[in-house]
Amino acid sequence: MARRLKLAGLIDLLWVEQPREILELAQDRRLDREFLPQGPWLNRLLARGIRRHLQLDGQPLPPLAPIGDERPNAAQITLAQSLEGPPCSQADLEALAAYVARGNTLDGPGVLVQGIVGRLFNGDYRADPQSYRDACLLDTAARTLNPWRQWRWRRSGDVDQARARLAEKVDRDPVALHATAIAVHNLVAALERMRRLAMERPRTLAHITPAAAASRCLAAPGTVLRQARTHGNHAVGSFAPGTLILFRLETARARSLRHDVAFLTHTWSRCPAAAWAPRLLSEAWRKAGKMMPAQGG
Ligand code: HEM
Repeated sequence: MARRLKLAGLIDLLWVEQPREILELAQDRRLDREFLPQGPWLNRLLARGIRRHLQLDGQPLPPLAPIGDERPNAAQITLAQSLEGPPCSQADLEALAAYVARGNTLDGPGVLVQGIVGRLFNGDYRADPQSYRDACLLDTAARTLNPWRQWRWRRSGDVDQARARLAEKVDRDPVALHATAIAVHNLVAALERMRRLAMERPRTLAHITPAAAASRCLAAPGTVLRQARTHGNHAVGSFAPGTLILFRLETARARSLRHDVAFLTHTWSRCPAAAWAPRLLSEAWRKAGKMMPAQGG
C-alpha cells in the first residue's frame, strides 16, 4: 500500500512499495529525476540535497540524471557490455568466497567489495577503510531526509571532501564514482546476507544452488526517487510538480524476489549491472561451497 505525507506548503512525499505499482510508475514520463527546487519547502530542500551530494563537477551522477532524449543511453549500454565477461579476478572471487564461507561478520566485506567494484573501472584501484567510510558518508548524506543533518554537512564540507577523495581514485569518472560510492552498498548488503545464511546453516552452501542463493540474498536500493514534473493522478495517489515519489525497492524485491524489480530492468533507468551483480553473487556462493569441509548426512 502507498503511504502519503502531505502538509500544505511544507512537505509532499509518496512512498510506493508494490512491485506492480513501482514498475508502472518507473515508466511514467510524468515523473523524472531532474530534482528541481519545486514543491513545498521540505521537498525543495531535499531535492537540493540530492543534487548537491550526488554530482560531480556540477553534473548529476548517472542514477540522478533525467531521462534525456535516448534510453538506454550510451553510458548504460557501454557499461552493461563491459560487464559481460568474468565478474572479477580469481583472487577477488576467492576473497569473496572466503568471506561467505568463514568471514568475520564484525568487519564486513565493505573494503573488499569496494575494491572489486573499483577495479572494474581502474585495474589499480585499492580500497581501504577510509575510502569505504567515504562511500558510507556519501550514501548516507544522499539518502537522509533530515534537514538538520543536511545543514550540518553543508557547513562542514565533510561530504564534499569524501566525494572528492573517491572521485580522484577513479579519474573523476562519474559512473565509477557512483559504482564505488553508492552501488557498492547493495553488494555489501547482499554478501552480508550470504554470510549469515552460510553461518546459520552451513549445509545450505551445498543445498541451495548458486542462482537461488544470489536471488535470495540480492539487495536492492532501499529507496529510489522520482520527482513529479506535472499534476497527475495514479491509483496510488495524485501528485503535483515537485511531489517526491519514493519507490521502496528493497521492500518490493523482498516480497517478490524479482530481479527486474531490484534493477528496474525493463525501465528507462535500468541498472547496467543487472546481469553482472547476480553473477558475482552466484560465483561467490559456488566457490564458498567448495571451501567448506564436506558435511555428513
Ligand atoms: C546488487 C547490486 C545493484 C543493484 C540492486 C542496483 C540497482 C540499481 C537500480 C534500481 C538502478 C535505477 C535507479 C533509478 O531508477 O533511479 C540502478 C542504476 C544504475 N546502476 Fe545499479 N545496482 C547495483 C549495482 C551496480 C553496480 C555494481 C554498478 C556499476 C558497476 C551499477 C551501476 C548503475 C548505474 C550506472 C546506474 C544508472 C543507470 C542510468 O543511467 O539511469 N549498479 N542500479
